Amino acid sequence: MLPPRTASAKSRWAWFARRLGAVLGLVAVGLVGWMWWASVLPGSYSALDMGVPDFGGGAGSEAHAAAHAHAGAADGTAAAPATGETSVPDLIADPDRLADVHVELTARAERVSLDGGEPFDGFTLNGSTPGPTIRATEGQLVEVVLRNEDVPAGVTAHWHGVDVPNAMDGVAGVTQDAVMPGQSFTYRFVAEQVGTFWYHAHQASHPQVVGGLFGALILEPAPETDAATAAVTTAGVDLVAAIHTYPGGQRTIGGALGDSHHDAAPGDIVRVRLVNTDSTPTSAWVTGSSFRVLAVDGHDLVGPTPVDDHSVQITAGGRADLELRVPDSGAARVQVPGASVTIGPDGVEADETSAPREHLDLLSYGEPADVDFDPEAPDRRFAYDIGRLPGFLDGRPGYWWTINGGMGAAVPMYMVDEGDVVVMTIANSSGEGHPMHLHGHHLLVLSRDGVPSSGSPWWVDSLDVAHGESFEVAFVADNPGVWMDHCHNLPHASEGLMTHVAYHGVTTPFRLGRDTGNDPE
Ligand code: C2O
Ligand code: CU
Repeated sequence: MLPPRTASAKSRWAWFARRLGAVLGLVAVGLVGWMWWASVLPGSYSALDMGVPDFGGGAGSEAHAAAHAHAGAADGTAAAPATGETSVPDLIADPDRLADVHVELTARAERVSLDGGEPFDGFTLNGSTPGPTIRATEGQLVEVVLRNEDVPAGVTAHWHGVDVPNAMDGVAGVTQDAVMPGQSFTYRFVAEQVGTFWYHAHQASHPQVVGGLFGALILEPAPETDAATAAVTTAGVDLVAAIHTYPGGQRTIGGALGDSHHDAAPGDIVRVRLVNTDSTPTSAWVTGSSFRVLAVDGHDLVGPTPVDDHSVQITAGGRADLELRVPDSGAARVQVPGASVTIGPDGVEADETSAPREHLDLLSYGEPADVDFDPEAPDRRFAYDIGRLPGFLDGRPGYWWTINGGMGAAVPMYMVDEGDVVVMTIANSSGEGHPMHLHGHHLLVLSRDGVPSSGSPWWVDSLDVAHGESFEVAFVADNPGVWMDHCHNLPHASEGLMTHVAYHGVTTPFRLGRDTGNDPE
């Protein structure tokens, strides 16, 4: 319709402006509607379709195109892999080898009451939370049967920090299907590392981990190795102390609320294995003794020196093994905000102090040493830039985390080949800190904000990247599979801060999506 012929030029302009406004409004609504529609995920999809292949300057795009088309078969069927491809379920430990350590874990959804705490609806493993501490010696084959008695959403066990074969990684929808009530799954892996690790559900992991589905895993050095000799002479008492906040803000250390006690004699040397099972970093500090940080994330530090008046910062998902000495009179106390454990003779109290103002900086702690690969000439170089943008994630409007500016299926999928040396720069401009965790590999910290690491080689599987910070890390791609690379602030992972490192030629028959029952976050 045209404006009336008699209308003045002015009202004719107003008429056009109104029409133009209406058209632009429709275009905007259409665009937002299209963004919404485009973000809605199918009921079932492959993890390999949730990212744009990023080759990091390395080879392999042709091989990937074939694998990708294959994995993303639209009919949802898991066809047998084409020649030259490996399917995730084949990436296992030697099936003919007998287990050296056998553990059975039964998961239950139940009302949990911690000693002296407020009951909550949570989860247990063999009737308790934390679940049993699993101990094995380097070289042993560990076999864990996980049964789900009645956890409605299903369960899995992920071996955080242990570079297990991919099929044993416990990620629902990527490396296995969630274990539904009445079902079980058997995990088998050889303990090739030594140190403090933990296991936790990787199905509906945010509610399940908070509610109690986790435990510690301690891998001890094989006898007659240097590490074993050192461990015997340095650790008289070995104390596993997971730090966990249960529903209702109930903070625990070593499974106990508030302040607890652990027996040790004056002069005892104690190894305290701190595990941060929460979603945010925690600081920990010691009174009554100086301490050394013997290991971080299951890697011994080289040349750790005594520390006073500093706290250690433990990344969400991360671990720190502290060594302290029980004083000749009195006791030592390991504190975290809201909880502590006193270590000393029965009935002896230790001072309580407020957190030291400064954190120990692991970038310069300990002595430099050689590592067994050369990060100077990497085969691939990746950027993992964390940001935040408004948009749609699986049809939900929100202010979501982005990786290299993309969200949902538009995040990068980091493609590698076995044997590659990979350098990754993790930068964060998202307004919040993120504890970044790569499955199946350990990362060597090269630099932070351009300052090279000058202390002990600092290996991590969980790394706090604060807003405004940038870390350069390196790893060797030596464990084929499809590996999650995500934020261990578990709500953040479900808000989009997760992607994968995928090896060329590895496909997964497992599916994600609302029709599959698999929901790793
Ligand atoms: Cu501790 Cu993907 O997890
Ligand atoms: Cu995060």
